[in-house]
Amino acid sequence: MRTRSLALGVLAAAVPGLTLAKPMIRLESGSGPAFQLVGRPLGGARPAAPTPAYLTGARIMADGEGALVIDADSGALLRTDAGGKGLAQVAIARDAGLMTFDAAARIAYVADRRNDRIAVVHTDTMTVASSIATPAEPYGVALTPDRSQLLVSTIADRTLVAYDAATGRERWRTALGSEPRGLAVSPDGTRALVAYLTTGTVDQIDLRAHRADPIALGHETPARRCRHCGNDGDSFARGAFAVTFLGNQMAVAPFQREVPVQDNGGAERAGSYGGGSESPVTHQLAFFRFGGELTEQATAAISQHQPRAVAWDPERDALYVAGLGSDTVIQIRNASQASIAAGRIAGLSAGDACGPDGLAVTASGRVLAWCSFTRSVVRIDFPASEADRGAPAVAPGPALIASAMTARQHDGMVVFHAASAAVSESGNLACASCHPDNRADGLSWRIEKHELQTPLLSGRVVGTHPYKWDGGDATLRDSLRSTMKRLGGTGLSRRDTDALAAYLEALPAVRTPTRDPAQVARGRKVFDSEGCRSCHDGPTYTDQQRHKLAGTLRESDTPSLLGVAASAPYFHDGSAATLEALLRDRGAVHGMADTARLTAHEVADLTAFLDTL
Ligand code: HEC
Ligand code: HEC
Repeated sequence: MRTRSLALGVLAAAVPGLTLAKPMIRLESGSGPAFQLVGRPLGGARPAAPTPAYLTGARIMADGEGALVIDADSGALLRTDAGGKGLAQVAIARDAGLMTFDAAARIAYVADRRNDRIAVVHTDTMTVASSIATPAEPYGVALTPDRSQLLVSTIADRTLVAYDAATGRERWRTALGSEPRGLAVSPDGTRALVAYLTTGTVDQIDLRAHRADPIALGHETPARRCRHCGNDGDSFARGAFAVTFLGNQMAVAPFQREVPVQDNGGAERAGSYGGGSESPVTHQLAFFRFGGELTEQATAAISQHQPRAVAWDPERDALYVAGLGSDTVIQIRNASQASIAAGRIAGLSAGDACGPDGLAVTASGRVLAWCSFTRSVVRIDFPASEADRGAPAVAPGPALIASAMTARQHDGMVVFHAASAAVSESGNLACASCHPDNRADGLSWRIEKHELQTPLLSGRVVGTHPYKWDGGDATLRDSLRSTMKRLGGTGLSRRDTDALAAYLEALPAVRTPTRDPAQVARGRKVFDSEGCRSCHDGPTYTDQQRHKLAGTLRESDTPSLLGVAASAPYFHDGSAATLEALLRDRGAVHGMADTARLTAHEVADLTAFLDTL
């Protein structure tokens, strides 16, 4: 468990010439600084109006004092009693997305990420009553306030679709950006918010005009400046998996902030990208206040690693946040008010890592945390008032279902998400910090004087050796060892390295977007006739060889093209923002293949083909 403070306030003061327009508030809980707000609290004098839970997609939802959980590991929808004991379950599909629950109608809507459908489940009998077909890879789900419409965000096909909840008929849809995740609707039904993995934004969707507008995350957080870093040492918001409303005017989204070029007292830290005393990845909460055209924002630093679970208790105006990499839940009191303050922190595990990726609040104000690693529900009673100095009472429930992974793969998954000193300096980072959802953060990290783009891992590990952009690591274990060394970690045991490799090798391919088959067939012909296959061939689309290309690393290993639609930007330095840009020779890597002669149609066809790999 990590409780190190993230000293953003101190940092801001240390940056010359940077003045914050708004006062900074540092809030500490009894157990150490864990919540620190940059900017003015956005709340008012009174708590915001309640937001029913079904307006937000989540992994766990309260059903009375019990719970409904969609477990991505086994793929089962689980129902528990108040003690966290299993009552019933129904299979949906492995790697399932989020769910929402209409408690009045006793219906759960579960996103089946692999089979492009919403499973409509009658929760009293725990039977799948029907399915709603969706675009590729549904993930976020939320109901509108009158529960008449179901909104779904889809990852591979990048859409937000509204369905008639009763009939499953599509009402409307609108395009989203790349890698959308969680979804929430405001209590008055006027707007929805969609969180993103790699864009650094949250989309605001006008539910009357069906138009999406991005809001940049965390703009009030002072960027760290490194004077000799060759660029301005910018920081990037990443990894927003969840978002939720606090009444109509406010919302909150947990995310992480990444600094891919390391500062070392004004000079570049070139040796390690795991950071020194300051972590290159910090964990934050963005608070939004909507009013007219302007959206105000404040950002808080939190100590929850890889935060992706959030729940608000409107009765007590308490906000709860947890993350996969630290087995704690932080309570934030008066979350929607000017008097916002850190509450308590509850520890979730005494033994095996919990990996919380869902939180819910029951009618009585009890917090339920879904431990995705142990597949159990933990109940937490936070003290009723600030005056009550007692510790939160934590009651872990039993494991509800077996993992679908082998024991070794499961161990590897835990290692992948743990922020440990074995992996990175001071335990700052986990593998999943830069490879969220087993994918990539879309950033180029400065490593040994090169800008190196984080590669996507899912489905790309087997049959693609050697590893790294320069092909410098012959085997996966070599690659893992060199990664941990670069990150400043002490290194994993042989057993844990093997477990990590087993986990990575079992990761499924990412889902691909839907494309017109005729266009894909034409694009395949262009791919063949342009000689792409001389290097990108075989089942993983790589010859596993190194090539000398102009203006690049001394040599570049041919990357696999599997899942390439989900791995923008492109090339080892991320210099081609899109596949079109890459084919138009608008990256910093040249001489791969001469595509300058291709017509706009041919580029579009080739891109469509690449999208489907
Ligand atoms: C700070 C961000 C960051 C962290 C943390 C991180 N990676 Fe990476 N990963 C990268 C970047 C950047 C590269 C490309 C480096 C290169 O090519 O030299 C990479 C490359 C890889 C590769 C090679 C993929 C290929 O196709 O060649 C694997 C495998 C990998 N990482 C797995 C891991 C694992 C496992 C961990 C945890 C032990 C981890 N990464 C931690 C950013 C990160
Ligand atoms: C001479 C071998 C070779 C040929 C021919 C070749 N590629 Fe590549 N390709 C590479 C190498 C090497 C890289 C990595 C370059 C770098 O970033 O340093 C690459 C990178 C890419 C990437 C970026 C992948 C990523 O994840 O960033 C795409 C997309 C791609 N190639 C598509 C194509 C297409 C389409 C063609 C045919 C028009 C083609 N390549 C022809 C070797 C080749």
